[in-house]
Amino acid sequence: MSEKPSAIIFGGLNTCSRALAALLVPLNGERLVSHLRIVDRFSVSPPTTYLGAEFPKILAQPDVEYRQANLTVPSAVASAFDPPPGKAPYSYVFDLTGEVNHDRSEVIVIKLTFTVARIIALEAVRRKVKAYVRLQQPVYETPDKGTHDEKEDVKPARPLDMWWHETLRMLASMEDLPLVVLRIGFVYGPYVEFGLYALVITVASIYGYMNKPMKTPWGPGKDGVNTVHIDDVSGGLWACAKWIASLGRQQANITAGEKIYFHNDKSKVKDIEGACSPDVQPVAPIFNLVDDSEMTMAKGGSMITEFFGTTFEFYSFFENAVAKFKLDDIVEDINEHHVGTWTEMLQMSNPPIVQTPLNAYMDQWALARRKLAYNNSKIKNVIGYKLNRPQFTHDELREVVDKWKAEGSWPALDGR
Ligand SMILES: *[C@@H]1O[C@H](CO)[C@@H](O)[C@H](O)[C@H]1NC(C)=O
Repeated sequence: MSEKPSAIIFGGLNTCSRALAALLVPLNGERLVSHLRIVDRFSVSPPTTYLGAEFPKILAQPDVEYRQANLTVPSAVASAFDPPPGKAPYSYVFDLTGEVNHDRSEVIVIKLTFTVARIIALEAVRRKVKAYVRLQQPVYETPDKGTHDEKEDVKPARPLDMWWHETLRMLASMEDLPLVVLRIGFVYGPYVEFGLYALVITVASIYGYMNKPMKTPWGPGKDGVNTVHIDDVSGGLWACAKWIASLGRQQANITAGEKIYFHNDKSKVKDIEGACSPDVQPVAPIFNLVDDSEMTMAKGGSMITEFFGTTFEFYSFFENAVAKFKLDDIVEDINEHHVGTWTEMLQMSNPPIVQTPLNAYMDQWALARRKLAYNNSKIKNVIGYKLNRPQFTHDELREVVDKWKAEGSWPALDGR
């Protein structure tokens, strides 16, 4: 009946937009969109970020386009919305922008996270798009017990995560924006080299190679570190887009709106253009997305280390107490045990690996205690979303490692 929508993805080339593109315009199978444009700050030829083996093939297809642009420049964003000659305007916008690295200054993070999203959203309102889906990375910390639904006021986990939260408040305050927010757990999957689990998988393989237990200071490990497969991130983004496009923002707010509370210092938002007033709790439809594994550190750590033939253990009580007070001091000690071995594994590989996006260094943020346990029933009940990969198991892990091996990012060692 009606034409397929056309879609534009902003940002996320180094996180989730390559996988989303593969869902929207697959190499085999039916396309979900008529035209796809991906816009980010990186170059793809030559690549200035990891792309994975599949993405260049996705890009080489007709009606798929990559555009390198400086998203902090409003005119560059505006022209990114202009459709190619003879094509319909973009109707679905996927906002996968935001800085995920924690080695940036606050000023830079505000620009790359808050300001970029604002520029895109303002233009999306002007263009009257049908859907604006915001991907919210696992920047929150949930309370100790149980799983937590979208009504609960979860707090940004680390200092710079505050700007991811301010971004949501700012977007939510634009009432004409057909916004829906997908709030995900920790992503893993083929060609996902960013974030906590890629690092844990890499480091676990090193301890397996050394035949030593992998240890963490955070016993007993019952805290949630919930996971989501990259295929479900893509599937969830698409499901959210279709849902809001059929409802519109007003109805979506009635059906699934949640208040978004202020958590920042008032002085910090005072001079930020477009920041939502501290006294306001804007409402936007929000959906959690995690798998059904109810992954915890103990469970995930055991499953992953077992895959590599070793065990997951906790430092003893005494060591534990020391670790809690001096995490910064032990970062180097912890890395000393395994980082050199990763280099050795890459050199021992047949053939040797000269370039890999996977690194084994765990900084203080990777080693910090994480607590993220989301309830995932709202997206199932309200949107009818069905998880593609409800459980994170050895089968999923094998697929991840095999794909890295096949493209030459992961060491191929005899008998392993
Ligand atoms: C993007 O544009 C801003 C504003 O003009 C500028 O400060 C920044 O250096 C640009 N970034 C790049 C990577 O060119």
